[in-house]
Amino acid sequence: MGLLDGKQGLIFGVANDRSYATHIARSLVEHGATCSYAHLPGVKNERRTRKAIETLGISDAQLYPCDASSDEDFDKVFESYAKDNSRLDFVIHSIAFAEREWLAQGKFASTPRDAYLSAIDISAYTLLAMGQRARAQMADSGGGAILGMSYYGSEKVVPGYNVMGVAKAALECTARYLAAELGEQGIRVNTISGGPLKTLASSAVGGIDTMLEHTPRIAPLKRNVEGTDVGGAAVWLVSDLGAGVTGENIYVDCGVNIIGAAE
Ligand SMILES: NC(=O)c1ccc[n+]([C@@H]2O[C@H](COP(=O)([O-])OP(=O)(O)OC[C@H]3O[C@@H](n4cnc5c(N)ncnc54)[C@H](O)[C@@H]3O)[C@@H](O)[C@H]2O)c1
Repeated sequence: MGLLDGKQGLIFGVANDRSYATHIARSLVEHGATCSYAHLPGVKNERRTRKAIETLGISDAQLYPCDASSDEDFDKVFESYAKDNSRLDFVIHSIAFAEREWLAQGKFASTPRDAYLSAIDISAYTLLAMGQRARAQMADSGGGAILGMSYYGSEKVVPGYNVMGVAKAALECTARYLAAELGEQGIRVNTISGGPLKTLASSAVGGIDTMLEHTPRIAPLKRNVEGTDVGGAAVWLVSDLGAGVTGENIYVDCGVNIIGAAE
């Protein structure tokens, strides 16, 4: 019997087989969950997402297009999901965006207003947008779990993470405020602070190679994080084993966040 047998939900952020969302989906599916997926609009994006989901051994997944900057798209995704599925037990928010130009070391102070606002919009406000629309169906399902993906650059300065660090601070804080309001309906909201992983999004971050080189050297576990590490934590947080956990930011980073600078 799987920890997630009978649970159904929606995953945002599968771009390819390296995406954190794909690793999370694999772990959720292995433990019995049924997942539907939202992807950036466009035939090419749909094909890319479908191909990644096929690596999980699933060929008939429900896919919904969604540009996360559009309220209309969010409305359509959650309405379509509710028509197609009788319950909503979890929503995975594994999306982020910031213009690459402002993710270079020494560029934070030059970030223009529109780049700052779009990073916060796509990477943080969207958790609230999802919570708003998930709320009713999750409550009807007896509660549920909303899970976002964060990074340590939300609280400490990580060179090159820049405006994305600001967006992650907003994401973690949004999760806490949502958790406080949705808890009455049995809806839990948490974030996982994942270690660096080579993906499409992370390749835009100026310091990613340094982060990947730094972690095995200084982290207590002496290695970089793997997708399965985050997948396992997601299973716990979505499952009933996580029933008492809400408003938290859980580090899944081989412990690197506990180490102070010594160099
Ligand atoms: N890779 C890392 O090192 C790392 C570490 C910690 C946290 N994270 C976080 O994990 C999450 C997933 O990122 P990833 O590293 O798997 O990269 P990824 O590129 O595989 O995933 C990012 C996703 O965001 C989606 N996205 C971007 N703009 C969008 C928009 N306007 N509308 C809809 N979707 C949009 C992309 O389509 C993609 O699926 C992000 O929140 C990221 O910040 C990543």
